[in-house]
Amino acid sequence: MNKFTRNIVLSVLVCALTAASMLVLPSAFGGNEKPKKADGKTLFETKCLKCHKREKFKEQASDRKGWVLTLSRMQRGTCDISDDELEALADYLAKAYGE
Ligand code: HEC
Repeated sequence: MNKFTRNIVLSVLVCALTAASMLVLPSAFGGNEKPKKADGKTLFETKCLKCHKREKFKEQASDRKGWVLTLSRMQRGTCDISDDELEALADYLAKAYGE
């Protein structure tokens, strides 16, 4: 194989590999998957029950607006939740621990 042929073979290989990795790993190339929406129940169990008992939420039952207030107080304080997670949590809490 002379040098010229070898270069062609190499660049074809590199092209093929790049194309193949784009097929196999679409997410690594900004794929079109939507980010999974936060699930309120899971968030509640992983974030809130770390510090509180379930009973607390029965006692504190409140409507969605009340939960949003509580959640933003938790968010500013000790609990690490994003705004999206706050919304999902408020939906869940208003359903599970609503008035
Ligand atoms: C790192 C610990 C921690 C986490 C995580 C946490 N809290 Fe709290 N929470 C506290 C502490 C400490 C208090 C009492 C002091 C206060 O009110 O800031 C409290 C108070 C509360 C109260 C009653 C008083 C109030 O402010 O209305 C509610 C209701 C509450 N938390 C709900 C939640 C919810 C819902 C979550 C999940 C998003 C959560 N907490 C996550 C520590 C935590």
